[in-house]
Amino acid sequence: MFKKLFAKKAARKVTLQSGITFEVGRNETVLEAALKAGIAYPHDCTVGTCGSCRSRLLQGKVDAITPFGYTLSREELQAGYILACQAVPESDLVVDVPLEAGEVRKVAARIVEQRVLTHDIRCVTWETDGVIEYRAGQYMNIDWPGAPAPRSYSFSSAPAEGGRTRLSAFIRRVPGGAFTDALFADTLDDAAFTIEAPHGTFWLREGTGPIILIGGGSGLSPLMSVLEDAVQKRVGRNAILLFGGRTERDLYCMDEIAAIRAQWPTQFDFRPVLSEEQTSHHRFGLVTAEVTTALTDLGDPASTQAYLCGPPGMIDAGVAALVAAGVSLANIFYDKFTDASTGAKQAGEN
Ligand SMILES: Cc1cc2nc3c(=O)[nH]c(=O)nc-3n(C[C@H](O)[C@H](O)[C@H](O)COP(=O)(O)OP(=O)(O)OC[C@H]3O[C@@H](n4cnc5c(N)ncnc54)[C@H](O)[C@@H]3O)c2cc1C
Ligand code: FES
Repeated sequence: MFKKLFAKKAARKVTLQSGITFEVGRNETVLEAALKAGIAYPHDCTVGTCGSCRSRLLQGKVDAITPFGYTLSREELQAGYILACQAVPESDLVVDVPLEAGEVRKVAARIVEQRVLTHDIRCVTWETDGVIEYRAGQYMNIDWPGAPAPRSYSFSSAPAEGGRTRLSAFIRRVPGGAFTDALFADTLDDAAFTIEAPHGTFWLREGTGPIILIGGGSGLSPLMSVLEDAVQKRVGRNAILLFGGRTERDLYCMDEIAAIRAQWPTQFDFRPVLSEEQTSHHRFGLVTAEVTTALTDLGDPASTQAYLCGPPGMIDAGVAALVAAGVSLANIFYDKFTDASTGAKQAGEN
């Protein structure tokens, strides 16, 4: 009996669908063990709020440190998705997750340009002392002296052959935010930054079906990177870009989007949606309410891939609308732009 009581729990084996295996020690999370094993498992917050480590459990059982439902939608939970950073195995597991791509490097950087895009969004460019190679849609983690923690920003430009030493992102001011308050007060112009990149798995997947892209606020950043890259690669799939803002002053990159539309080899439609201003020339309401019409216009929900970026609430509503209209969860990709308030909000909501 004593032998049984004090027996050390055996490590659990996790097998990724790609064939990679690793062991998870007692009380360890899937993410902790994967990172220890040197696996490029996607992650950002590590505390269960961003959804970056979202993975599909194909076999086995896990215990959740914090309920996955704080961050994952009902549809995702029903389909067997878990958060690897909150999942402690109770048995051996088989897990499906796209691994991050690219060699992660840490480089020193300084801000060299800031371009005003709207009343609360700037395009910020860093010059780095080393090359960063990334895929369109990925993001960087930036750190600076006095930072409470690194912040994540999605690249806004298409990647360049051989990598880039100028890295740009669209950054929205979050009132009370440690980084963006300082940025918009212009107190970080000479700060010595460290950038670690690339991160994330938000890139355009192979396929022949239509594409729907949904963005809100600075969520346009990775979508512009993906679209510019797709134009360069002559991706000939029908596409609709839905962009949500409150009023007309939230719309930006109009010329750049018009240029993409002009070069897109097949159908490309741009649909701005305003939630607080009625105009004669833009759609009115929530951007996610336009999903069903857009999918009908694209014509083939079952083969449509969806790419969403922006505030967590918009993404949750977007995923629900996409699934209800027949898009497979396996074809839905997103980056939630979470911040320091997200965990507190999620805990309060549930
Ligand atoms: C993968 C990823 C990619 C991203 N890409 C982009 C991008 O391209 N562009 C972009 O603009 N943003 C992006 N973000 C969001 C970005 O990383 C920052 O979270 C955002 O810019 C806010 O940073 P901040 O330091 O200004 O605010 P924070 O310091 O994070 O504060 C945000 C808000 O939370 C409040 N707050 C602080 N602490 C707490 C607390 N303990 N409890 C409750 N509330 C609190 C603050 O007062 C403020 O209102 C991305 C996020 C992720 C995860
Ligand atoms: S890394 Fe798991 S939810 Fe953010």
